[in-house]
Amino acid sequence: MSNPVVSIDNLAKSYGSTIAVDDVTLEVFEGEIFGLIGPNGAGKTTTMECVEGLRKADRGTLSVLGLDPWREAAALQKRIGVQHQEAHLQKRIKVWEAIDLWSTLYSKVVDTNLLLQRLGLENKRNAWFMTLSGGQKQRLFIALALIHDPEVVFLDELTTGLDPQARRAIWELITDIRDRGKTVFLTTHLMEEAERLCDRVAIIEHGRVIEIGTPAELVEKHCPERTVVFTSDEAGVAERLNGLPNVKAVTSDGLQHSLNGQGTDFVTDVINAIASEKIRVTGFRTETPTLEDVFLRLTGHGIRD
Ligand SMILES: Nc1ncnc2c1ncn2[C@@H]1O[C@H](COP(=O)(O)OP(=O)(O)O)[C@@H](O)[C@H]1O
Ligand SMILES: [Mg+2]
Repeated sequence: MSNPVVSIDNLAKSYGSTIAVDDVTLEVFEGEIFGLIGPNGAGKTTTMECVEGLRKADRGTLSVLGLDPWREAAALQKRIGVQHQEAHLQKRIKVWEAIDLWSTLYSKVVDTNLLLQRLGLENKRNAWFMTLSGGQKQRLFIALALIHDPEVVFLDELTTGLDPQARRAIWELITDIRDRGKTVFLTTHLMEEAERLCDRVAIIEHGRVIEIGTPAELVEKHCPERTVVFTSDEAGVAERLNGLPNVKAVTSDGLQHSLNGQGTDFVTDVINAIASEKIRVTGFRTETPTLEDVFLRLTGHGIRD
């Protein structure tokens, strides 16, 4: 694997008697989209703010691009881009004014016209911030985070509150940032977002990282079961498929049959068996567990509880 861009070792941070981050250890590698995922209050924002050099860790070691984010904050700010959860701008600042203002903060900036174009904001240049839609506001915050061409971009709950269409547009932009060679470290409590977007994720709960891996690895490790559901009007279908080695259970409800099993070959095995039994199938779908199921299995509760 490539170099770690962010290293977090045994991070802890409390606010008075509230332990926000208890023990977080993880590494983010160059060129990946890494997601810190977990429910509200899990410690995602606090972790991210320590890494960005905005908060001082109580305990632990942090390194971002080889720098100590607290002691070398000034040097770090030039090389990272940050979008904050619940970011705001003045209602009557125009898009171009915000871009101009941010540009003055850095000695080197990208071509801002191109940047606005990439983010689909070129015809919003003269619009007041308050007239932008939720998705456009978030795209402006991404633009501001990218203005100095940072090596690492931090995005905290970027798509919360957006409708599905605006959310998808943002996912594409984030993938595009990664494909331009940047490293992206984001947080989300949306498991679907993590699954679609992240190369690797860390699941955090009560200030502790409880699992790290690619979404597919975590699903395979914790929820290896698969279900094939198909419909057929032939008789005795369930009996004909019951003997398959990987099938754990066959249940039938009228013309609809469900087969449960495990492993990456399960679906193929069922398809082959249906074909060799020459069963006429009128409907077919597979049910694969998701990161949401992984979270449920690891914690015993859903992420929104
Ligand atoms: N500035 C703060 N002062 C006091 N408590 C805080 C502060 N920020 C967060 N907390 C508390 O720390 C815990 C973790 O919060 P946070 O890091 O914001 O989690 P997340 O981003 O995962 O929702 C929560 O219990 C939250 O109420
Ligand atoms: Mg948060």
